[in-house]
Amino acid sequence: MNRRVLVCQNTSCRKYGAAQVLKAFQQAKVAAERSGCLGQCGNGPMVIVLPEAIWYDRVQPRQVPIIVEQHLQQGAPVQPWLYQKFHAV
Ligand code: FES
Repeated sequence: MNRRVLVCQNTSCRKYGAAQVLKAFQQAKVAAERSGCLGQCGNGPMVIVLPEAIWYDRVQPRQVPIIVEQHLQQGAPVQPWLYQKFHAV
């Protein structure tokens, strides 16, 4: 499955470091695109993995290599970091 990542780059998420998160995905050489506001301001940086539409909140650059390896490459979402609002356990 070809997965790709959306990283919100609107004001609120950028305030929490979304630009660095997008950069980290791009440096990992995965398909990563900037998105407009995803409607979850204050919980960012918000990241969505497509095509499954799995959400991560408050993503920091140090988490990116783990999301890339476990989710994008191996297909196993990183459960502890999922956005609980949409992926409640
Ligand atoms: S600014 Fe990212 S969800 Fe609104």
